[in-house]
Amino acid sequence: MSDPRRLPRHVGIIMDGNGRWAQLRGRDRIEGHREGARSVRDVTRAARQLGLEALTLYAFSAQNWARPVEEVTGLMQLLCDYLHDERPELMDNQIRLEAIGDVERLPPHVRAPLDALRADTAHHTGMTLTLALSYGGRESIARAVRSIAADVAAGKLAPADIDADRVSSYLPTSRLPPLDLLVRTSGEQRISNFMLWELAYAELAFVDCMWPDFRRQQLYAVLDQYAARERRFGLTSHQLTERAELSADDSDVELHLDR
Ligand code: IPE
Ligand code: IPE
Ligand code: MG
Repeated sequence: MSDPRRLPRHVGIIMDGNGRWAQLRGRDRIEGHREGARSVRDVTRAARQLGLEALTLYAFSAQNWARPVEEVTGLMQLLCDYLHDERPELMDNQIRLEAIGDVERLPPHVRAPLDALRADTAHHTGMTLTLALSYGGRESIARAVRSIAADVAAGKLAPADIDADRVSSYLPTSRLPPLDLLVRTSGEQRISNFMLWELAYAELAFVDCMWPDFRRQQLYAVLDQYAARERRFGLTSHQLTERAELSADDSDVELHLDR
């Protein structure tokens, strides 16, 4: 990585293309998911080693429940295996595991190891690995709106206090740094209901390779792409240069804008 100040704090990944990866090889879709779990391991390890603060992986969408039952069952089993197998890695590397989405819908053999690992890693300070499970961006926003409405009805919140920051604070991502970079594999250029609110100023990177082929080298390549971009947050390029010059003396000051 060229410049550590240009490393994103928070990367989100839409891990897409497992099924096609398998079908291209004449194999069952589930084998693509199994190989995809290997990419999850490699990418997580690389992200931790690089010093990312947060990595959020879209593993199963609210809409994916509608897939054929044997695929859903296979995915749940892989998730369960993953949570058992990854425990030592998360424990040894100070990785905090989180989950966003309607996790109540997950079967007990996934819920139990998920809850246990979340609890056992809650004090970790290394990197936050968030799995988006049974997750939908619109569903998340709807849930936040419901909580806001309940707080208003209970007299805990005034309508005038509802601004963008307040809404963010009701989302399940509120404890994470702002999303800096969204990556989607498999060549599809769509968001598929992932982190709709959080994407406001994220950089987007669409890569052609299927998720099972996305390993640390491919991560380094998108991070290099990210580092070369100018994030303006509505300002002019000139304003950004001025700010960078002002902070140049102080090596502790990051080039990130206040967000
Ligand atoms: C992504 O791969 C994993 C999940 C959605 C669970 P897909 O299963 O969507 O693979 P493609 O897009 O059909 O190739
Ligand atoms: C998005 O991929 C969900 C995950 C990667 C978990 P999909 O394969 O479900 O998205 P669409 O159907 O191509 O939009
Ligand atoms: Mg897909």
